[in-house]
Amino acid sequence: MREEPAAVSPGLVLARIAAILLILGILLLAPGSRYPMLTVLLALLLLLIVLAAFPRHGHLAANRGETARSEPVLGDGRLNAVLDAISAPTVLIDRRGIVMHGNAAAFAAFPGLRNDHPVAFGIRAPDMIAAIEAVVRSEPEAHATIIDRVPVERSFDVLIRRLALEPDGRRPPVGAPFAMIFMQDTTDARRLEAMRVDFVANASHELRTPLASILGFIETLQGAARNDPQARTAFLAIMEAQARRMARLIEDLLSLSKIELSAHIPPSDPVDLALLVRSVCDALGGLARDRGVTLVLDVPEAPMVVIGDRDELVRVVENLVENGIKYGQSGGRVEIRMSRTDAPEEGVLLAVRDFGPGIAAEHLPRLTERFYRADVNESRDQGGTGLGLAIVKHIVTRHRGRLAIDSRLGEGSTFTIILPGKRDLPET
Ligand SMILES: Nc1ncnc2c1ncn2[C@@H]1O[C@H](COP(=O)(O)OP(=O)(O)OP(=O)(O)O)[C@@H](O)[C@H]1O
Ligand SMILES: [Mg+2]
Repeated sequence: MREEPAAVSPGLVLARIAAILLILGILLLAPGSRYPMLTVLLALLLLLIVLAAFPRHGHLAANRGETARSEPVLGDGRLNAVLDAISAPTVLIDRRGIVMHGNAAAFAAFPGLRNDHPVAFGIRAPDMIAAIEAVVRSEPEAHATIIDRVPVERSFDVLIRRLALEPDGRRPPVGAPFAMIFMQDTTDARRLEAMRVDFVANASHELRTPLASILGFIETLQGAARNDPQARTAFLAIMEAQARRMARLIEDLLSLSKIELSAHIPPSDPVDLALLVRSVCDALGGLARDRGVTLVLDVPEAPMVVIGDRDELVRVVENLVENGIKYGQSGGRVEIRMSRTDAPEEGVLLAVRDFGPGIAAEHLPRLTERFYRADVNESRDQGGTGLGLAIVKHIVTRHRGRLAIDSRLGEGSTFTIILPGKRDLPET
């Protein structure tokens, strides 16, 4: 941004010139005077008075080198106090783009920001600098967007608005408040929007694939295979499987949105998780046998009561054990362990461990996203929709519990959930 000379009133300039001329005159006359030393001292004294009396312009020069909190902008600091009360990052600049005051939120969001330094040093956003320049030129306000990708992805909507502090709409001098930069954090809104777009794209893709297959078989049955009973039987079986897949997908999507809708209402029924786990494992016994997997249960005989929604907890246990069987098949064994926890609060821990191929570290943080699959083809072959763990995560969150995933390639995976539950709860 351009450096402009300090704006000084003409009267002040004249007074300054006159004072300096007077001092020069005295200095010139000093050798001829009767008391030369006294005259020189008088001249120096006058010079000191002149320097002290004229207000110093260029707040910047006066305070250079000072960081974060500098002296109040409007004398008594009222404006600074107002800015500090605003929770969104807000920065006051002079007309060269020098930061006069940033509030706490601004310094927290942009640690490189310093009072008395150009705002461009602390916030590297060409879009915002261009907007400030537009306001400096003539615009009353301008908008910009800041999008950072590193170290974390974040974004801000920025508004730069000129202040009307000077009388008669005059331009304020350099070093005086000129414009305010308001920043609104839009990181979450953008992320949600991106998720929504992804979600619609994923959901329609997942539905389109089986639908295309069904339509293809219908065409074949109407044409080439019209009189081929053997082909008809085979094709109908495939169509049924695809239609079931679509039905399951829609059912999963509906239950996800139902859980989301009730996320703020925690469940209230006491449920014996030990009993529930045993019955889910019984039901999955057939699948385990088919895959050559042994289910090893280490579940206490006594009731392990948690406060929960029985149907939702069945879905959690079903999906974790089913994943262990499906994806950890090569390990030949899935262990289901349950115990009480005391710290940080009373609860019940359920760990489902398999000895299959494990999951690479880069997938772990994303496994609970809708439709996210570590191995898309394997999951599809297994009839999975990639929604299972998203449902698990939502249910556990609604139960005010926690889900942890621990996995190492080649060693298998452990999915652990901890649900709040008191020892003395009545059993159901
Ligand atoms: N025990 C496991 N071992 C290895 N990979 C796993 C395991 N559990 C889950 N995964 C990976 O995580 C992905 C997501 O699992 P999730 O349960 O959400 O979906 P899915 O099983 O594919 O579909 P659905 O649960 O709807 O049938 C799986 O596709 C798989 O790649
Ligand atoms: Mg699953």
